[in-house]
Amino acid sequence: MATAVTMRCLPRAVPRFLPSPASAGSPKFHLAASRSQANVTRRLLQRTSRRQYSSSSDPSPPKSNTRTILGAVTAAALVAGGALFYYSPSTFGLDSPSPAALLKQGSGGQSAGVFKPTAADYQKVYDAVAQLLWDHDEYEDGSYGPVVLRLAWHASGTYDAATGTGGSNGATMRFAPEAGHGANAGLQVARDFLEPVKKQFPWISYGDLWTLAGVTAVQEMQGPTIPWRPGRQDRDISYCTPDGRLPDATQGQNHIRAIFGRMGFNDQEMVALSGAHALGRCHTDRSGFDGPWTFSPTVLTNDYYRLLLEEKWGWRNWKGPKQYEDKTTKSIMMLPTDMALVQDKGFKTHVQRYAADEKVFFKEFSDAVQKLFELGVPFTVPETERITFTLHSDSSS
Ligand code: HEM
Repeated sequence: MATAVTMRCLPRAVPRFLPSPASAGSPKFHLAASRSQANVTRRLLQRTSRRQYSSSSDPSPPKSNTRTILGAVTAAALVAGGALFYYSPSTFGLDSPSPAALLKQGSGGQSAGVFKPTAADYQKVYDAVAQLLWDHDEYEDGSYGPVVLRLAWHASGTYDAATGTGGSNGATMRFAPEAGHGANAGLQVARDFLEPVKKQFPWISYGDLWTLAGVTAVQEMQGPTIPWRPGRQDRDISYCTPDGRLPDATQGQNHIRAIFGRMGFNDQEMVALSGAHALGRCHTDRSGFDGPWTFSPTVLTNDYYRLLLEEKWGWRNWKGPKQYEDKTTKSIMMLPTDMALVQDKGFKTHVQRYAADEKVFFKEFSDAVQKLFELGVPFTVPETERITFTLHSDSSS
């Protein structure tokens, strides 16, 4: 149980064990679909040309510049077809890059060579994401944190250990084929939310930004620190993963083991990762399911496990997909895959361990999320040089 740190919660975090208010409604985005093809092409070419600033090399077979540029142009054509949306920078109120930030891109008059970001530079990115989270408490339950974490997880959870494909390297969810996978419904919200940070720190790859933002979300929602290292490189549309790699919530334990086993996780790690469902909620217009798992959906606790064991659960009587609701308040929910964690003996042992001791959960959650975000990334930064970020909520108070 989280106790000592409860003062650090995001502004409108819901008090624990009180039913959360209904969703505050959909975010007010200014999404502009289908900007001109020229604009889109320019953006993609700029993105391609920034690859040199990523801090590690791509393990894939070398490709000629021509092929890379052609890939970008193909992507641009698809994007211009209306499949992707672009963010209006004014929405979240971040200024355009400062002259200093532009210099750091290595663009223009910088002659010192490629900009090499330091841990302090990544802490600045962390702080910018955290500040956005704190500034935008108008979003449902008071925080974009849960949906940002879901973005980082879905970017990483496509990894296939057998082929070495997928994972957070590449950030291929930027492109319509992968963004359009059913499991990724609703994640445009998180990608748009982070766009001003990308504008402010153009040298960071989307893959690094999304995973670093996932770390920020966990830490700022009172979770454990998650050591992180850079090294993801943005790739073109041809690296999009096939549909079906992310879990299907209507399934049971065999499916969970198949999906997470494919990524290289064991039972204990699968249960630890699932504890992320202490955060956020389901949306009928995204997954079809409805409601939060816990009474404090913007504070990471071990309540997910406690509720799984301590509450009485029954099928919800409604027209939507089959999901469980608690018999006491009928205001929280569990997916069939969540309930599989107490129906399966091998999983249940870990549910019991985490329900009994939040410290154990935090440690094993941190380890598993760190592993998840690193799957398939061709790091040049060694494991010993992972960065542990300082909480923004502490440093700014
Ligand atoms: C068997 C594995 C899993 C299944 C079937 C599953 C399924 C789902 C579903 C259906 C939603 C609701 C989406 C919506 O309607 O907005 C959701 C939300 C969420 N999931 Fe999972 N998930 C799984 C594992 C994970 C993992 C490993 C993490 C992170 C480590 C995670 C983090 C989240 C978060 C934070 C949300 C809330 C998003 C929001 O509030 O917008 N999930 N998940």
